[in-house]
Amino acid sequence: MTSNTLPPFVKSGADLGQRTTLALPGRAAFYVEVDSADQLSQLVGKSHLRRFVLGAGSNVVLTGDFDGLLLHMAIGGRQLIGEDDDAWYVRAGAGENWHSFVRWTLTKGCWPGLENLALIPGTVGAAPIQNIGAYGLEVADRFHALEAMDMLTGKTLRLDRDACRFAYRDSVFKQEGWHLEARLVVTRVTFRLPKAWQPVAGYADLASELEQRGIARPNALQVADAVIAVRNRKLPDPAVLANAGSFFQNPLVDAAFARRLAAAHPELPRYPQADGRVKLAAGWLIEQSGWKGRQLGRVGMYEKQALVLVNRGGATGADVIALARAVQAAVRERFGVDLVPEPVFL
Ligand code: EPU
Repeated sequence: MTSNTLPPFVKSGADLGQRTTLALPGRAAFYVEVDSADQLSQLVGKSHLRRFVLGAGSNVVLTGDFDGLLLHMAIGGRQLIGEDDDAWYVRAGAGENWHSFVRWTLTKGCWPGLENLALIPGTVGAAPIQNIGAYGLEVADRFHALEAMDMLTGKTLRLDRDACRFAYRDSVFKQEGWHLEARLVVTRVTFRLPKAWQPVAGYADLASELEQRGIARPNALQVADAVIAVRNRKLPDPAVLANAGSFFQNPLVDAAFARRLAAAHPELPRYPQADGRVKLAAGWLIEQSGWKGRQLGRVGMYEKQALVLVNRGGATGADVIALARAVQAAVRERFGVDLVPEPVFL
């Protein structure tokens, strides 16, 4: 089947140069701005083109032109859909901006719970795919359920928390590769925001920011403000300096390996996990390997946070891949640790 069987709302050819926060050049052969689940269902079975779902493009490395159908998610809407004794249930369309949604939960409704995740770039629909997280909290902690369109059958599926199989920056979407081929497309997400709210303020950077502000018992808005201040200090605003947030995942290694490494490098930050493994700080490994603030052509590792790869202007996907490989090689050589990129490569 060919593209001529596609519905008229599908555009031929679209420039993606400003559609990802790394601002890498590329075009999509076919493009549609999806503003309803109904529109998605009209695309089911209509072509054998490769598909890809794009939200705000904050976790995507565009390696060149995309010869398939790009689904740009723009499904909007956000509302309180219910409450019980323990929680409020708040739902948002996949295309909603994540930070605006977080701010709305805190100011419009006074429904606390997402404040640690303030200012994370991206959309609501992308949040569960890689289980976004920051400052001691991840989406999985506040997730209730999502709705998704099955692009093979046209049916709407509901996935609860267990079905999503969340792990560190991971979910069933990544485990099954559904996010790459757009097999299941998230349309709406519901969050469960606890009435017996307690601040999650133990993360070192956040704790010291609150202490400096003289706040011992913060409310949710104060936590959000502190998170925003810390993020603004350490992480570049993609609108000013193109980047995709943390470029590598923090590696999980077994306990014995972490002990051996720590014996040779006593400063090594280590975070023991519930399953016995130890999470290492990729930013620290990269800095110690000499790559903090260092450039390779038009890209570099950010001077204030070595885990963030930045486009200094005019870079291509090939530049990004070259730098990622150089950093991986340096960390492997010095520490014997393999870094895995966090973004999706398209
Ligand atoms: N570190 C260095 N040098 C650096 C950067 C970090 O030595 O250049 C050290 C820090 O001193 C600290 C440790 O590494 O001891 C951890 O650093 P930080 O607290 O800044 O957090 P991170 O592990 O680098 C993670 C997330 C971020 C999230 C922050 C805060 C990942 C891959 N990254 O970064 O998420 O904002 O924690 O919770 O898990 C993202 O995913 O895009 C992202 C920004």
